[in-house]
Amino acid sequence: MMKRDNNIKNDLIIKTLLGESTERTPVWMMRQAGRYLPEYIKLREKYGFFERCQTPELACEITLQPVDIVGVDAAILFSDILVVPQAMGLEVQLIEKQGPLLPQPIKTQNDLQRICVPDVNERLHYVFDAIKLIKRELNGRVPLIGFAGAPWTLLCYMVQGKGSKTFDEAKGFCYQNPELAHRLLQMITDTTIAYLKGQVAAGADVIQIFDSWGGLLSKKDFETFSLQYIRQIVATLKEDVPTIIFAKGAWSSLPEMATTGAHGLGIDWCIEPQVARGYAGNSITLQGNFDPAKLLSPIPVIQKEVKEMLQAFGKGRHIANLGHGILPNVPVDHARAFVDAVKEASPTL
Ligand code: CP3
Repeated sequence: MMKRDNNIKNDLIIKTLLGESTERTPVWMMRQAGRYLPEYIKLREKYGFFERCQTPELACEITLQPVDIVGVDAAILFSDILVVPQAMGLEVQLIEKQGPLLPQPIKTQNDLQRICVPDVNERLHYVFDAIKLIKRELNGRVPLIGFAGAPWTLLCYMVQGKGSKTFDEAKGFCYQNPELAHRLLQMITDTTIAYLKGQVAAGADVIQIFDSWGGLLSKKDFETFSLQYIRQIVATLKEDVPTIIFAKGAWSSLPEMATTGAHGLGIDWCIEPQVARGYAGNSITLQGNFDPAKLLSPIPVIQKEVKEMLQAFGKGRHIANLGHGILPNVPVDHARAFVDAVKEASPTL
């Protein structure tokens, strides 16, 4: 049975994911909790990145900031996809202005001995504590989105050891040692299933799976190294809460993603909404797809382009969002203009 928090006053996102009609299009922004908000940057001066993730009071404060400051229709848990590899036993650092660093990445069969499928209640209880606190503080204002990285995207970091535009070492690992790669992907999948079930039990209303690097794979390899694992995750959640798959760049697999049982599919700005709709079919919600860099345009341009985006998606079955995370240099009033433009233009669709 689908779990539904009847206490939520603004449930536009849940309704849209379940295919129910709403008075307007809901809106939130990927990576909305963080970098571009002065209130977040202030906390960053005082606490380390994982300290912010691991302290429920801080994670709660950061999660609520965009709800209060820009007026989005959902909160997304402040955490990171890399807490999962960390819980599995890999060291993960976040280097200021550079990004993630895993000093001892997985390269060989022996390296697999260093990681495990952990007890999530032991290693990730701080996330569940944060979710309980956030739900209390939100007090039903908007739904809370929980999340995890897709196994493929986590493998990219666990093998490459750092960010990359191509993740060629991670891909090389998969193509040279497919058996090892599948063992690792299954370990990540098993951890992620337990982790997301824990997030739902703690109170998450919606789950999004971020496959940021899905678009690096051919359609066939996406099925082999990514989608078959996402499918397992969605299958264990789909009866409990609505799920959204965001596999950036993997638009050619939208038909296959649409049959996983997910309720929503995220798309980036490189595919037109009408084309994505044709691929995904009519019985799933689409989420996206404003180019995050377009938020640097003057506000009247943002307003005009948001209107065009809404018209391209049409009425219903659409959650307005960016096509990837918000950039750190976006002025807060531009982020607010994006959200306001959706709220103003969508009721007349
Ligand atoms: O969406 C939200 O606002 C919730 C929090 C959230 C963070 N990371 C916080 C964060 C979420 C959902 C993520 C997901 C994430 N993390 C992804 C998938 C989405 C995407 O953007 O593709 C990926 C690939 C990561 C890995 C990661 N974490 C990278 C590459 C970086 C460094 C570069 C960057 O994006 O800032 C991080 C660090 C990180 N995660 C920051 C934040 C707010 C910035 C670090 C800081 O606070 O200084």
